[in-house]
Formats: sequence, structure tokens, C-alpha cells
Amino acid sequence: TFTEVSALEILDSRGNPTLQVTVTTGDGGRYRAGVPSGASTGTREAVELRDGDPERYGGKGVTKAAAAVDGEIADALRGQRWTSLPDVDAALIDLDGTATKSRLGANALVGVSMAVARAFAGNGPLWQSLQPEGVLPRLPVPHFNVLNGGVHAPNDLDFQEFMIAPVGAPSLPEALRAGAAVYARLRALLAARGDATGLGDEGGFAPNIALPEDVLRLIVQAITEAGYEPGRDGVAIALDPASSEFSRDGSYHVAGEALSSDDMIARYEQMVTDFPVWSLEDGLAEGDWDGWAKLTTRLGDRVQLVGDDIFVTNPAIITAAVERRIGNSCLIKLNQIGTVTETLEAQRLCRDAGYTQMISHRSGETPDPFIADLAVATGTGQIKAGAPARGERVAKYNRLLEISAAAPDLPFGLAD
Ligand code: PGA
Ligand code: ZN
Repeated sequence: TFTEVSALEILDSRGNPTLQVTVTTGDGGRYRAGVPSGASTGTREAVELRDGDPERYGGKGVTKAAAAVDGEIADALRGQRWTSLPDVDAALIDLDGTATKSRLGANALVGVSMAVARAFAGNGPLWQSLQPEGVLPRLPVPHFNVLNGGVHAPNDLDFQEFMIAPVGAPSLPEALRAGAAVYARLRALLAARGDATGLGDEGGFAPNIALPEDVLRLIVQAITEAGYEPGRDGVAIALDPASSEFSRDGSYHVAGEALSSDDMIARYEQMVTDFPVWSLEDGLAEGDWDGWAKLTTRLGDRVQLVGDDIFVTNPAIITAAVERRIGNSCLIKLNQIGTVTETLEAQRLCRDAGYTQMISHRSGETPDPFIADLAVATGTGQIKAGAPARGERVAKYNRLLEISAAAPDLPFGLAD
């Protein structure tokens, strides 16, 4: 039984309010969760409840969501005997009563759901208790976001994320070492060019370089100079342009040019040819389903095409996308859908459809490493949690190191 369910308004990594949820069980256990928050959000994500009071945190306060946890949600959960996480999540969804979780707030619901998942894990490792039946656990390849643009940085770069993925690393510790080495080399290269080495929201550098191809060239140089082979045998590159953010008036606006959907596809085709890009997330906008279908036909055999803003971890949308053969991979974010159970359901759909999956943090984070356990539990083989630097980012990677040390027999690497 749950004796206490409460929430505290805390600050996230961007300095915006978010929730920390605490659940206390009858046997004296205390379980916490920190709620992440995005900046380049998909329009069909579950709704974050914010106060809207301009006098507090520019309207971003979460006291109403905290009150929902302390009040209605605590009342519904306390005192009853709960036997499984799906039961609790179903009760939360029911209690909220809206399709988008807008009444109590997806931020309130996901925080409670995560803390309750920990309560069900008890003293055992969270990843073991989250593991779906028939799925083999696996340590994921970290995708380190080393260079930030878009809405995550105040520079002129339209593409949001340039990630390095040590796909060829033999182990998780070696993958982290490669990430840190390339990141350090990239900082030195930027400094030598006189570029800024300040950081964006996810801990990557945020120099004023407008052309994505110029950034790709620099990253390949950093990989090589750090002593690794650029590509899938060593360190590959993954992109998240987050193109919904630079799509307007029917065009994609990249470095001053207005490009059509077809132009963008041709541009990506050239990038994939010239650089060791193995994964492309949100290459086209969330509303551009026809473009996505073409992109998948054109590049689906050569590159992983990850849907984030377009799928928003939503089982119904993923089902529709699979029917139209749109993309071949799902980004997985707990707070896009709002409960752990629905996240696992979205993941099951992706698995059944033969789509790969990448577990993801948000640009606004807390030190909560929940997603590290989720990635291992669901055997996705891929995670992105920002740069190999800054506390809220390395918390996830360090948790993977802990899991790896405690369970040395877990396989590491991309799932095949
Ligand atoms: P967000 O960005 O957390 O700001 O939405 C992450 C992403 O687009 O993958
Ligand atoms: Zn994204």
C-alpha cells in the first residue's frame, strides 16, 4: 500500500519548475521520481500542466500539478492494495479522464507513475522489474549530443542535435570513454578556430556555425583525432534536426535557404553519403506525413529514421505510422504519453512492427536516471541522454555504468 503520495515543485536543468514526486509504502520504503520537460515538443504530446500565472516563473510554475498529486491522486492511491503498475496507471488515466491528460497534468501523472514503478521494484534493480516478458535486457549504445542548435541553443544553427554514437565500442565503459574523448577533442577544435565553447541545453557545444555540413565535418575530424574510426565500426553520427521547429509556410528554413520536402530529402541523402550518419530523427516535420513516406522509401534502407515529434510515444499514432510505413524507428519519451505502462505499450508496438527504438531524455531534465533502467529493461540497444558532461546528463550514463558493473553478463550494443 501507498501511505504517502506527494509532489514538490523543484527546478529542472534549465531553471524552470518541474515536479519531484515521492511515494511512501506501508513497509517504510520511500521512492522518488523527477519529471523531465521538453522545449521542442510535438503538438500531440500529453499536456504538461503549468500554472499560467505570469507573476511566478513566467507562468511556468507547477503548483497546480503538485496540488493534483497531493490531493486527488494521493486520495485515489492511498489506503488501497495495488498489485501491479498497470493497475495504478489505469487508475491514474481514469482519474484524469481526458485524452491528453490535461486535467491533472501529464507531468503529475508521469511523475507518480515513475515513482510507483520504483515502489514495485522495491529493493531490486528497477530495470529487472520493468523488463517485459520475452524481452532480453541489453546495455544501450549511448548517443551523446555534442553540438546543440535549434531551440536548445541561442546560435544560428537550425539543426537541433548532432550526436556521436560509439556503435563499434566493445562495452559500455569503452563507449563512455569514446564519447568523452571525442567531446574533449571537439572542444579543442572549436577553441582553436576561435569558436565559442559554451554549452546548449543538453550539454553540447553551441558555436555559431550555420551549415549542418560544416558541423558534420568538424565532428568527423574530432572523432578521427580522438583516435576512433568514423562510422559503424567505431564512432558513428546521429542527427536530430527537429525539423518541425524550422518548418513554416510549407518550407524548411535551413541556413537562410527555403527548402521543399523533396529538397530536404535530397540534402539528407547527400549527408548520408558524405558523412557517417547512421541515424536521422525528425528529418521532416510532424505534419509532413507525405514527405516522411517519401523519405522512408528513399533512405529507409540506408539509415535509421526515428520518429519523435511525429510519433510522440503514442500507441495510436505509431500504429497509423506503421500502417503507412513511415519511418523505421521510434523515439521513446515517458512524458510524451504520460505513464510508464503506456510507454511500454508503445515500445511493444514498435517491437512487433520491427521498428528499432531509442530511449530519450528531454532537454529539461532532473538527475533522475529512470530512462537508463528503462533502456536496459526493454533491450532497445539505444539511448540518448545528452552530452557526456553536466550532472543531469551524466546521471543517466553513470547509472548505466552501475548497471553494467552489477550485471557484467548483460550484452552491450545495438539490438539486431
Ligand atoms: P525536447 O528535445 O526535449 O526539447 O523536446 C529533444 C528532442 O527533440 O529529441
Ligand atoms: Zn527529437
